Amino acid sequence: MSDFFKAIKVTDHVYWVGAIDWESRDFHGYQTPRGSTYNAYVILAEKPTLIDTVKKPFMDEMLARISTVIDPASIEYIISNHSEMDHSGCLPEVIDIIKPQKVFASSIGSKTLEQEFHTGHEIIGVKDGETLSLGNMNLTFMETKMLHWPDSMFTYLADENLLFSQDAFGMHLATGERFADEIDEWIIEYEGAKYFANILMPMSALILRTLDKVERSGLKIDIIAPDHGPIWRKEVNKILELYKKWSSKDFEKKAVVIYDTMWHSTEMMAHSIVDGLITGGITTKLLPLRASHRSDVVTEILDAGALLVGSPTINNNMFPTVADALVYLKGLRPQNLIGTAFGSYGWSGEAVEHIKEILTEMKVELIGDGLKVRYVPDKSALAQCFDLGRLIAEELIKRCEK
Ligand code: FEO
Repeated sequence: MSDFFKAIKVTDHVYWVGAIDWESRDFHGYQTPRGSTYNAYVILAEKPTLIDTVKKPFMDEMLARISTVIDPASIEYIISNHSEMDHSGCLPEVIDIIKPQKVFASSIGSKTLEQEFHTGHEIIGVKDGETLSLGNMNLTFMETKMLHWPDSMFTYLADENLLFSQDAFGMHLATGERFADEIDEWIIEYEGAKYFANILMPMSALILRTLDKVERSGLKIDIIAPDHGPIWRKEVNKILELYKKWSSKDFEKKAVVIYDTMWHSTEMMAHSIVDGLITGGITTKLLPLRASHRSDVVTEILDAGALLVGSPTINNNMFPTVADALVYLKGLRPQNLIGTAFGSYGWSGEAVEHIKEILTEMKVELIGDGLKVRYVPDKSALAQCFDLGRLIAEELIKRCEK
């Protein structure tokens, strides 16, 4: 075991004992250029308790950090708030090493962990609202189904006003600093938004209900300790408000234009459309898909009110990069968008219709019939593109002013 990893104090009784994954660049299709952390916490109660574990290759780092505050073998309870492998990957080995008296998860989590690892370890399922005595302290469990998996739950340590929130309020960000107030605000906000957009957006309605449930419960929360990224202590209300905003899908006067191009014709169309949007008073992001990752596209869409998608037709279909982005976006279910499709073609020109079909499935309200241009757009075609941008801008402004 390494001598170099230290536990970081969060409160008098709680220490961060997770792992920093500086090298991670992908989380199932979501690009993570700033790496990530897998957070685990130890509560130094009469019954010492470990909250979550880490991704399997990082087990030794976690055990080394735990060893700087307590002998891992003296941990009596382990709580698994979320069974996804970035938090439970080393749980079976940790159970074998630590030999805790009891391991707890939500009732769904106890089944999921057995279905993942097939070890036969007893995992005790807890119910929503159930409490657990740690001797001199108490934990309360709160089911948060689908945030981010069906098994997910929060664990609340009333004695320290601390909420262990697993994926919620987290972000993929590897830093030496453990607290949000120690890191540049714009990085925190961007990576928090990116995490929400790429992981939690489909669960927006549930998140609103969960936030409401937490508010109604009257729990005093001074610290939120998520399973990824920094811990919130000075800006708890800020991240709660951001989650409300993101899950309410409060869009701005902002349009996102994504496209790919074969011989620059669709690119020319995109530029004229963007010119129309900007002239119409809309904040506009143009993202060429050959150079923009799908996870950055969805991050830009989080606060946008319009999505415009361009593709040339290749072999009777849309470009593969466009299909990739649309399949990813459709799964994340962005809400309240207007949009359109455009693209150049040579002889058949199916791409625009195919894009419109997917946008319709995504419940994007289509403005106009889309725009197809044969081969290379001339001045008149580019003027039509400009007008399309203006039309979308007008519609978006109308919606924002409703
Ligand atoms: Fe960080 Fe849903 O796992």
